[in-house]
Amino acid sequence: MSDSHETDTVRAVAVLGAGGTMGRGIARNAAVAELPVHAWNRTPAKLGDLAEENGIETFATAREAVVDADLVVTMLSDAEATLAAMSGPDGGAAGSEGAIWVQMGTIGVAGSERCAALARDRGLLYIDAPVLGTKVPAEEGTLIVLASGPEGSRERLEPFFDAVGRRTIWLGEAGQGSRLKVVVNSWICAVTEGTAEMFRLARALGLEPHLVLDAIEDGPLEAPYMRMKGEMMLKGDYTPSFRLALGAKDAALAVAAGAEAGAEIPMIEAIATQMAAVAAAYPDEDLAALFRGTADA
Ligand SMILES: NC(=O)c1ccc[n+]([C@@H]2O[C@H](COP(=O)([O-])OP(=O)(O)OC[C@H]3O[C@@H](n4cnc5c(N)ncnc54)[C@H](OP(=O)(O)O)[C@@H]3O)[C@@H](O)[C@H]2O)c1
Repeated sequence: MSDSHETDTVRAVAVLGAGGTMGRGIARNAAVAELPVHAWNRTPAKLGDLAEENGIETFATAREAVVDADLVVTMLSDAEATLAAMSGPDGGAAGSEGAIWVQMGTIGVAGSERCAALARDRGLLYIDAPVLGTKVPAEEGTLIVLASGPEGSRERLEPFFDAVGRRTIWLGEAGQGSRLKVVVNSWICAVTEGTAEMFRLARALGLEPHLVLDAIEDGPLEAPYMRMKGEMMLKGDYTPSFRLALGAKDAALAVAAGAEAGAEIPMIEAIATQMAAVAAAYPDEDLAALFRGTADA
C-alpha cells in the first residue's frame, strides 16, 4: 500500500509485462535512472537476465510486485491482458491502492476507459500513457510518451517518463493519450500496408521494388518509417520489432474507435481486414511481414 504520490521521491516502479519487447526496455531504463524497479511477467522465464541487473527485483505475481511501489506501470499486449494482470487475487490492483497506475500499452479508447473504471474502483490514480517508438527506442529510453490524466501527477511522473522517453506530451484528461495513439498507429498500418502493396505492384509490373526507394531518396516523398519497413521487406527480414499480431490489433482498435466516433475511414477498415488475414499466418513476425500477403498464408 502506498499513499506516496504526494511525496517527492519515487519509492519503486512496478513494471508489469517486463519480459515483453517494450516492457523490458522500460524496466531497464527506469533502473538505469536509479528508480527501484519491481519486475513481473506472466511467463517468468522471459524476464531472463533482468533479475540480475542492478536496481531490478523480480516477483512471482503482479500483486507482490506492486507492494511498496508507488508507480504501477502496465505494458502488456492489449486491454484483455492488461485487465487480467491488474485483476483477481494475484493482480496488480489488489496490492496497489493509493498508487499511480501508468498504463502504457496500446489498448484503444474503450480499453483505456475500462482500465480507468477499474482504477476508480480500486482507489488508483489512472494515467493513460501509451508510447510512440518501437524496440530500439524502448531500449534506448527515447520513446515519446503520450500522457493523459490529472495535471497534479505530472511532476511526480517526470523522473520515470524522462527515464524511458525523450519527450512527454501531456494531452489533457485520461484517455486522450490512447486516442492519439490509435490515430498515429492507423497511419503506421497504412504506411506499412501501402509500402507492401506498392512493392507487390512494382514486381507485378516487372520493376525491382528497390527502384521505388531509389526514386524517392532525398525528395519530398521520402519517409523514414516507410524506408525502414521497406528495407526489411526487401531483405525478407521479419525479425519482430513490432509483432504483426499487435499491428493488426491496432488497426482493429482504429476501426472500433472510428465506428464509435462516426469517422469515415474506409481505407483503414480495408487495411484492418487485410492485416488480420496476414497476421493470422505470421502473428509473431514483424509488421513488415505484411509484404508476405495472404497468397501463401
Ligand atoms: N513493439 C512495439 O514496437 C510497440 C511500440 C509501441 C507500443 N507497443 C504496444 O505496447 C504493448 C506491448 O508490446 P510489446 O511489443 O512489448 O509486446 P510483446 O513483446 O508481445 O509482450 C507482450 C507482453 O504482454 C504479456 N501478456 C500477454 N497476454 C497476457 C495476459 N493474458 N496476462 C498477462 N500478461 C500478458 C506478455 O507476457 P508473456 O511474456 O507471458 O507472453 C508480455 O509481457 C502492446 O500494446 C503494443 O501494441 C508496441
